Amino acid sequence: MKEGNFSLEDNELNVIHNSTRPLPIIYVWCIVVKVEDNNNILLRNFRIFLKSLLFHSKHPLSLNILTEDKSKARVDFLVSVVTTKMGYKFYEIIFHNIEDASDKVRPITETMQLYFSSVPGSYYSDSLFYISLGLHNIAPSYHHKVILVDIDIKFETDIIKLYEHFTEFHVDTLFGLAPELSPVYHHMLWKWKQIHPNSSFGEPSYKGFSGLNSGVMLMNLDNIRKSEEFNNCITREYIDNVTAKYAFKGHLGDQDFYTLLAVEKPHLIKILSCTWNRQLCQWWKHHGYMDEFNEFARCDGTVNIYHGNCNTPIPVK
Ligand SMILES: *[C@@H]1O[C@H](CO)[C@@H](O)[C@H](O)[C@H]1NC(C)=O
Ligand SMILES: *[C@@H]1O[C@H](CO)[C@@H](O)[C@H](O)[C@H]1NC(C)=O
Repeated sequence: MKEGNFSLEDNELNVIHNSTRPLPIIYVWCIVVKVEDNNNILLRNFRIFLKSLLFHSKHPLSLNILTEDKSKARVDFLVSVVTTKMGYKFYEIIFHNIEDASDKVRPITETMQLYFSSVPGSYYSDSLFYISLGLHNIAPSYHHKVILVDIDIKFETDIIKLYEHFTEFHVDTLFGLAPELSPVYHHMLWKWKQIHPNSSFGEPSYKGFSGLNSGVMLMNLDNIRKSEEFNNCITREYIDNVTAKYAFKGHLGDQDFYTLLAVEKPHLIKILSCTWNRQLCQWWKHHGYMDEFNEFARCDGTVNIYHGNCNTPIPVK
């Protein structure tokens, strides 16, 4: 499905020329699966996400939704309702088949799930957590730079301001992610931290490196496609090495990988301000971290994106 009045040639250039200056097309990717009925919590989240995205955005957007056949009609209907109501025209809307995408990340998933999945073995459900690592093979080649987001988020500002962080990428930067705002990596690294008590890894983000959250990601797909270094980092041998080094056993999928990658190869990842992924989940506060939790959750500055992870409601203003 294609919407808007833009031609294919513009598509190649990745810019749309209006009378004054070229506007970048912003390629947004998200996963919306298991939409069982119309009152589904996922659909509610998706509506909040979509409305907030469109409300603030003045730029042409390419919306890319990874979904299954059985969810597609409901998601498609919701997109039409919201865009019609808001009088918005996308540059393009593309539905991508999640099973095909999963097939493309199969080798990566099989390696990563050994260390970064709580119950390795369920191939299909696991693959959803590793899609980002193969998105450069899933996305069309004219998607040079993309933003991949969870749908339990709400924009408080124009997505162009997030997109502008690509200008801060170096030639070898591949990803941009914001910190994890819970003590989960502090917890996972307890064994390693006994031997490295002074390391800032696993410490709150305002004074150390707490790990990364993959709910909002900038991805330079062109650089990823070209990067030999990245391709080496997703091999079994590399993952074996790096997880052994930190005595690391995770359960959060791709973000476990990005967390270790940021420590080992910081030049590949641009760390965004926590205001671009203000996580609201408080699970750890009630599971052994009552005293330390607020330090980990600390995020100074005006929130640009709320992330209602672990089904946490997003504040309404
Ligand atoms: C950690 O820091 C303390 C205080 O600065 C120091 O006494 C100690 O030797 C350090 N430990 C290691 C393992 O570096
Ligand atoms: C894994 O570690 C071994 C031993 O330190 C090293 O020789 C090898 O190059 C490492 N492999 C990767 C892919 O980094």
